[in-house]
Amino acid sequence: MTTASHHASDDGPLAMLRREHGVICDLADAMTRAIESSDGGSKPATRQLWQAAAGVLHALAEQHHGKEETVLMSYLELRGFSRATRPLAAVLADHRRHDELLDAVVAALARASGDPRASAPLRVAFARYRAHLQRYIEREENILLPLAERVLAAADAEEVMRRFGMFIELSGGAGWYAGLMASADRIRGAATRAVDQAGVGGGA
Ligand SMILES: [Fe+2]
Ligand SMILES: [Fe+2]
Repeated sequence: MTTASHHASDDGPLAMLRREHGVICDLADAMTRAIESSDGGSKPATRQLWQAAAGVLHALAEQHHGKEETVLMSYLELRGFSRATRPLAAVLADHRRHDELLDAVVAALARASGDPRASAPLRVAFARYRAHLQRYIEREENILLPLAERVLAAADAEEVMRRFGMFIELSGGAGWYAGLMASADRIRGAATRAVDQAGVGGGA
Protein backbone atom coordinates (compact mmCIF):
# COMPACT_ATOMS: atom_id res chain seq x y z
CA MET A 1 0.00 0.00 0.00
CA THR A 2 1.33 3.38 -0.92
CA THR A 3 -0.96 5.61 1.11
CA ALA A 4 -1.06 5.97 4.86
CA SER A 5 -4.84 5.73 5.01
CA HIS A 6 -5.88 2.52 3.38
CA HIS A 7 -8.49 2.50 0.69
CA ALA A 8 -11.59 0.37 1.16
CA SER A 9 -10.82 -1.18 -2.22
CA ASP A 10 -7.59 -2.66 -0.86
CA ASP A 11 -8.98 -4.55 2.10
CA GLY A 12 -12.74 -4.16 1.84
CA PRO A 13 -15.32 -6.86 1.19
CA LEU A 14 -15.07 -6.67 -2.60
CA ALA A 15 -11.30 -7.09 -2.44
CA MET A 16 -11.88 -10.18 -0.30
CA LEU A 17 -14.25 -11.62 -2.91
CA ARG A 18 -11.74 -10.86 -5.69
CA ARG A 19 -8.97 -12.58 -3.74
CA GLU A 20 -11.18 -15.64 -3.31
CA HIS A 21 -11.90 -15.65 -7.06
CA GLY A 22 -8.13 -15.77 -7.59
CA VAL A 23 -7.61 -18.63 -5.11
CA ILE A 24 -10.44 -20.67 -6.66
CA CYS A 25 -9.27 -20.09 -10.25
CA ASP A 26 -5.61 -20.82 -9.46
CA LEU A 27 -6.51 -24.13 -7.84
CA ALA A 28 -8.90 -25.04 -10.67
CA ASP A 29 -6.17 -24.21 -13.23
CA ALA A 30 -3.59 -26.37 -11.45
CA MET A 31 -6.10 -29.22 -11.31
CA THR A 32 -6.99 -28.82 -14.98
CA ARG A 33 -3.32 -29.28 -15.92
CA ALA A 34 -2.90 -32.16 -13.44
CA ILE A 35 -5.91 -34.03 -14.81
CA GLU A 36 -4.92 -33.39 -18.43
CA SER A 37 -1.39 -34.69 -17.88
CA SER A 38 -2.47 -37.77 -15.94
CA ASP A 39 -3.37 -41.27 -17.06
CA GLY A 40 -6.71 -41.19 -15.31
CA GLY A 41 -5.43 -41.54 -11.79
CA SER A 42 -3.77 -44.94 -11.77
CA LYS A 43 -1.89 -44.05 -8.56
CA PRO A 44 -3.88 -43.85 -5.33
CA ALA A 45 -1.92 -40.72 -4.37
CA THR A 46 -3.13 -38.99 -7.55
CA ARG A 47 -6.74 -39.84 -6.84
CA GLN A 48 -6.32 -38.68 -3.26
CA LEU A 49 -4.96 -35.37 -4.50
CA TRP A 50 -7.90 -34.88 -6.85
CA GLN A 51 -10.38 -35.75 -4.15
CA ALA A 52 -8.71 -33.32 -1.77
CA ALA A 53 -8.82 -30.64 -4.48
CA ALA A 54 -12.51 -31.26 -5.15
CA GLY A 55 -13.21 -31.06 -1.41
CA VAL A 56 -11.37 -27.76 -1.08
CA LEU A 57 -13.01 -26.31 -4.22
CA HIS A 58 -16.37 -27.28 -2.72
CA ALA A 59 -15.56 -25.66 0.64
CA LEU A 60 -14.20 -22.53 -1.05
CA ALA A 61 -17.33 -22.19 -3.19
CA GLU A 62 -19.62 -22.72 -0.22
CA GLN A 63 -17.78 -20.02 1.73
CA HIS A 64 -17.56 -17.62 -1.20
CA HIS A 65 -21.12 -18.04 -2.50
CA GLY A 66 -22.38 -17.86 1.07
CA LYS A 67 -20.89 -14.42 1.61
CA GLU A 68 -22.15 -13.20 -1.76
CA GLU A 69 -25.66 -14.56 -1.33
CA THR A 70 -26.38 -13.98 2.33
CA VAL A 71 -24.49 -10.72 2.86
CA LEU A 72 -23.60 -8.82 -0.33
CA MET A 73 -26.89 -9.47 -2.10
CA SER A 74 -28.87 -8.45 0.96
CA TYR A 75 -27.16 -5.07 0.87
CA LEU A 76 -27.83 -4.74 -2.86
CA GLU A 77 -31.49 -5.53 -2.14
CA LEU A 78 -31.54 -2.63 0.31
CA ARG A 79 -30.39 -0.49 -2.63
CA GLY A 80 -33.32 -1.61 -4.76
CA PHE A 81 -31.95 -4.66 -6.57
CA SER A 82 -33.93 -7.90 -6.66
CA ARG A 83 -32.82 -11.52 -6.66
CA ALA A 84 -35.57 -12.16 -9.19
CA THR A 85 -34.01 -10.00 -11.90
CA ARG A 86 -30.60 -9.40 -13.44
CA PRO A 87 -27.91 -9.17 -12.43
CA LEU A 88 -28.56 -10.92 -9.09
CA ALA A 89 -30.75 -13.63 -10.64
CA ALA A 90 -27.97 -14.45 -13.10
CA VAL A 91 -25.41 -14.75 -10.30
CA LEU A 92 -27.73 -17.09 -8.37
CA ALA A 93 -28.24 -19.22 -11.49
CA ASP A 94 -24.47 -19.28 -12.02
CA HIS A 95 -23.97 -20.51 -8.44
CA ARG A 96 -26.51 -23.32 -8.90
CA ARG A 97 -24.88 -24.35 -12.19
CA HIS A 98 -21.47 -24.25 -10.52
CA ASP A 99 -22.67 -26.64 -7.82
CA GLU A 100 -24.14 -29.04 -10.41
CA LEU A 101 -20.91 -29.07 -12.41
CA LEU A 102 -18.74 -29.60 -9.32
CA ASP A 103 -21.04 -32.45 -8.23
CA ALA A 104 -20.49 -33.98 -11.68
CA VAL A 105 -16.71 -33.74 -11.13
CA VAL A 106 -17.03 -35.49 -7.77
CA ALA A 107 -19.17 -38.24 -9.35
CA ALA A 108 -16.61 -38.70 -12.17
CA LEU A 109 -13.82 -38.85 -9.57
CA ALA A 110 -15.64 -41.58 -7.70
CA ARG A 111 -15.75 -43.64 -10.91
CA ALA A 112 -12.13 -42.92 -11.90
CA SER A 113 -10.64 -45.63 -9.71
CA GLY A 114 -7.47 -46.07 -11.71
CA ASP A 115 -9.24 -47.20 -14.85
CA PRO A 116 -7.75 -45.16 -17.73
CA ARG A 117 -11.09 -45.41 -19.55
CA ALA A 118 -12.67 -43.42 -16.73
CA SER A 119 -10.30 -40.51 -17.30
CA ALA A 120 -12.15 -39.16 -20.36
CA PRO A 121 -15.42 -38.47 -18.49
CA LEU A 122 -13.42 -36.95 -15.64
CA ARG A 123 -11.58 -34.65 -18.03
CA VAL A 124 -14.85 -33.63 -19.68
CA ALA A 125 -16.54 -33.01 -16.32
CA PHE A 126 -13.63 -30.96 -15.05
CA ALA A 127 -13.32 -28.97 -18.28
CA ARG A 128 -17.04 -28.11 -18.11
CA TYR A 129 -16.71 -27.03 -14.50
CA ARG A 130 -13.60 -24.95 -15.27
CA ALA A 131 -15.19 -23.27 -18.30
CA HIS A 132 -18.26 -22.31 -16.30
CA LEU A 133 -16.10 -21.03 -13.45
CA GLN A 134 -14.21 -18.79 -15.89
CA ARG A 135 -17.37 -17.35 -17.46
CA TYR A 136 -19.16 -16.78 -14.19
CA ILE A 137 -16.26 -15.20 -12.35
CA GLU A 138 -15.69 -12.88 -15.32
CA ARG A 139 -19.37 -11.91 -15.21
CA GLU A 140 -19.08 -11.14 -11.50
CA GLU A 141 -15.89 -9.15 -11.92
CA ASN A 142 -17.35 -7.21 -14.85
CA ILE A 143 -20.91 -6.71 -13.58
CA LEU A 144 -21.65 -7.65 -9.97
CA LEU A 145 -18.59 -6.23 -8.24
CA PRO A 146 -18.48 -2.93 -10.18
CA LEU A 147 -22.21 -2.56 -9.44
CA ALA A 148 -21.59 -3.15 -5.73
CA GLU A 149 -18.71 -0.68 -5.86
CA ARG A 150 -21.04 1.92 -7.35
CA VAL A 151 -24.07 1.51 -5.14
CA LEU A 152 -22.61 0.64 -1.75
CA ALA A 153 -21.64 3.63 0.34
CA ALA A 154 -18.47 3.49 2.43
CA ALA A 155 -20.56 2.82 5.53
CA ASP A 156 -22.27 -0.08 3.75
CA ALA A 157 -18.93 -1.53 2.76
CA GLU A 158 -17.79 -1.44 6.37
CA GLU A 159 -20.96 -3.17 7.46
CA VAL A 160 -20.67 -5.77 4.68
CA MET A 161 -17.10 -6.47 5.82
CA ARG A 162 -18.24 -6.84 9.43
CA ARG A 163 -20.91 -9.32 8.31
CA PHE A 164 -18.39 -11.20 6.19
CA GLY A 165 -16.43 -11.57 9.42
CA MET A 166 -19.54 -12.90 11.16
CA PHE A 167 -20.15 -15.32 8.28
CA ILE A 168 -16.58 -16.61 8.55
CA GLU A 169 -17.03 -16.92 12.32
CA LEU A 170 -20.14 -19.07 11.78
CA SER A 171 -18.32 -21.13 9.13
CA GLY A 172 -15.54 -22.05 11.56
CA GLY A 173 -13.66 -18.90 12.47
CA ALA A 174 -10.69 -16.93 11.22
CA GLY A 175 -8.30 -19.81 11.88
CA TRP A 176 -10.48 -22.16 9.90
CA TYR A 177 -10.64 -19.63 7.06
CA ALA A 178 -6.85 -19.22 7.02
CA GLY A 179 -6.55 -23.02 7.03
CA LEU A 180 -8.87 -23.31 4.04
CA MET A 181 -6.78 -20.80 2.08
CA ALA A 182 -3.59 -22.62 3.10
CA SER A 183 -5.10 -25.95 1.98
CA ALA A 184 -5.96 -24.44 -1.40
CA ASP A 185 -2.39 -23.24 -1.77
CA ARG A 186 -0.87 -26.53 -0.64
CA ILE A 187 -3.03 -28.61 -3.01
CA ARG A 188 -2.33 -26.21 -5.87
CA GLY A 189 1.38 -26.70 -5.24
CA ALA A 190 1.03 -30.48 -5.08
CA ALA A 191 -0.97 -30.52 -8.33
CA THR A 192 1.68 -28.37 -10.02
CA ARG A 193 4.46 -30.71 -8.85
CA ALA A 194 2.46 -33.72 -10.07
CA VAL A 195 2.37 -32.17 -13.55
CA ASP A 196 6.12 -31.54 -13.43
CA GLN A 197 6.75 -35.14 -12.36
CA ALA A 198 4.56 -36.41 -15.19
CA GLY A 199 7.12 -34.76 -17.46
CA VAL A 200 4.58 -32.59 -19.19
CA GLY A 201 5.60 -29.01 -19.75
CA GLY A 202 2.00 -27.86 -19.65
CA GLY A 203 0.64 -25.17 -21.89
CA ALA A 204 0.30 -21.60 -20.76
FE1 LIG B 1 -17.78 -14.49 -6.61
FE1 LIG C 1 -20.44 -15.88 -7.05
